[in-house]
Amino acid sequence: MITLGIEGTAHTLGVGIVDDECNVLANELDMFRPKEGGLHPREAANHHSDVVSTIIRSAVDKAGISLSDVGLVSFSMGPGLGPCLRVAGTAARALACSLGVPIVGVNHCVAHVEIGRAQCGCDDPALLYASGGNTQVIAFAEGRYRIFGETQDIGVGNMLDKLGRELGMGFYAGPVFEKLAKEGDRYYELPYSVKGMDVAFSGLMTAAVALQKKGVPLEDIALSVQETAFAMLTEVTERAMAHIGKDEVLLGGGVAQNNRLRDMVADMAHARGAEMYVPDRRFCMDNGAMIAWLGAEMYNSGVRMDVSETAVRQRFRTDEVEVTWRS
Ligand code: ATP
Ligand code: FE2
Repeated sequence: MITLGIEGTAHTLGVGIVDDECNVLANELDMFRPKEGGLHPREAANHHSDVVSTIIRSAVDKAGISLSDVGLVSFSMGPGLGPCLRVAGTAARALACSLGVPIVGVNHCVAHVEIGRAQCGCDDPALLYASGGNTQVIAFAEGRYRIFGETQDIGVGNMLDKLGRELGMGFYAGPVFEKLAKEGDRYYELPYSVKGMDVAFSGLMTAAVALQKKGVPLEDIALSVQETAFAMLTEVTERAMAHIGKDEVLLGGGVAQNNRLRDMVADMAHARGAEMYVPDRRFCMDNGAMIAWLGAEMYNSGVRMDVSETAVRQRFRTDEVEVTWRS
């Protein structure tokens, strides 16, 4: 069966096409980049409705199939920004109804885990999901993906983007931090906030802005922010792995593209005799292939949804999903 999945939780509208072995036939996307300021949900949603049919068409062309070959449509039901979710949901319903095929709404965070497992060939990892809107440590326990630790304020990517804007780095600052940090040579201590398995970033942000006012070079601020924030993430990931006895760790989310974070988690895994996995860049960021793949897994394990059950859920929690496709 061929599954077409539509992602639209935040700034990315993605369309992926997969088969039942998780061969990715297409994974097209278009990201909304605000001209100034942060992400406005309504503007992002307008972007998504402008591009969605073009992206569906180009995914189908890339895959070398025709729309009539699609046997299942899936979409990101949540969590995410309401207006964006509704565009993806409406497009998915329209497509499924016009093709006369079933529809499945999926949890975006669970999709990050499942594409990572399938692409990396790991079996039962703890996932460090570090993206713009989300920062969680997730692992499978007693039939569900459970959140063992998470941010108490904002996602690590949003922290980098917000801070970057204040420091004058422009929007989508994650990659800029990475580049600047490589040129930094002095570490300044910043608030390190780990409570149990949770993290928080607001103190670190305030302190980083104060460093700039004191005239500390941007390169050193970037280095200090990365070292502190990523050490926090690595610590809670390690604690979760020890607590639940997992010897695999998987990285996911846009921030997982950062090589310094990868190195820190790899060192931690190595020291524990565990294995680290990172999916290819295009599967780390928000994408349609992961939505298609989780939809296929759910459908093939017997999940069925009526169109009336596909309303979007802005606060859809990872542990609300009953995992029917794993034993
Ligand atoms: P989600 O909806 O899952 O919360 P998202 O909409 O924020 O995700 P992603 O593509 O998963 O989208 O992640 C984007 C985030 O990743 C942005 O905050 C961006 O700054 C950050 N990012 C991208 N590349 C890097 C990098 N090299 N280093 C650090 N952060 C990065
Ligand atoms: Fe995501």
